Amino acid sequence: MSLSNQSELNVQPLLKVTNLCKSFKHATGILSSREQLAFGPVSFTLEPGQTLAVVGESGSGKSALVRTIGGMLIANSGDIYVKGQHLSSLNSQQRCLSIRMIFQDPSSSLNPKTTVGKILHAPLQLNTDLNDKQRHQQILETLKLVGLLPDYLAFYPNMLSSVQKHQVAIARAMILNPDIIIADEILSTLDISLRFKIVNLLLKIQKAKGTSYIFVAHNMHLVKHMSDQILVLHQGKIIEKGTAKSVCESPQEEQTKYLLLSHQPDYRK
Ligand SMILES: Nc1ncnc2c1ncn2[C@@H]1O[C@H](COP(=O)(O)OP(=O)(O)O)[C@@H](O)[C@H]1O
Ligand SMILES: [Mg+2]
Repeated sequence: MSLSNQSELNVQPLLKVTNLCKSFKHATGILSSREQLAFGPVSFTLEPGQTLAVVGESGSGKSALVRTIGGMLIANSGDIYVKGQHLSSLNSQQRCLSIRMIFQDPSSSLNPKTTVGKILHAPLQLNTDLNDKQRHQQILETLKLVGLLPDYLAFYPNMLSSVQKHQVAIARAMILNPDIIIADEILSTLDISLRFKIVNLLLKIQKAKGTSYIFVAHNMHLVKHMSDQILVLHQGKIIEKGTAKSVCESPQEEQTKYLLLSHQPDYRK
């Protein structure tokens, strides 16, 4: 078989999203309702070790899109493939090993009554055949990966700083070594200097593990430095898609220009 034929057969994007649409039913009366489009049709691919940023104003469909890809919402139409396999053909264990989500606010997504150790243990117990010793080893390695000492295993979330809560949320997502991590506006609750700390941590993890990210953000200047591709959503539609450099340096659409202008770094003179 020629090399070109071989590569044609083997090349499957890590993630392929085609014509994905999602709408919600909104009640308009006691017996009547109407469908409102949250997003779509959306199509894109994501390769291993790459970052796709999804940006757009509030209500443009970013969370609905990534929650649908993360399997938390069911699409009305369209397809999601992971390594060539339709997402609906994967069982929950396979999905967890493929795609994990980090939620917006770790203060509310981490159970306050559960220690960090138990928070990290649960996904391993549910989704792997590892024995106790192997699970403990995996937990220690993941804590190290996110820059936390083993002492934190006994801590409860309310004993952690906001950055440490983010580190635990990232550790929980990384504990199964997924192919893709979806992060939905995880930086919005942090001060600017702390945002860069978390961005640097995510980049370090990507370099070490080859993880792909779908990164939902408001701040285009932040995503410019950590993304390979940017997808701009406006009223549920993709209005612009391209490399981070091309979208940020020569935006084609008014809405993209507006998003760039509204997030100029604040270098006060
Ligand atoms: N669970 C839901 N039920 C009904 N409508 C929803 C739901 N989630 C999102 N929507 C609607 O879908 C649209 C997109 O919302 P969302 O994805 O949350 O936007 P963004 O994350 O870009 O701010 C909005 O009009 C919102 O009201
Ligand atoms: Mg959102």
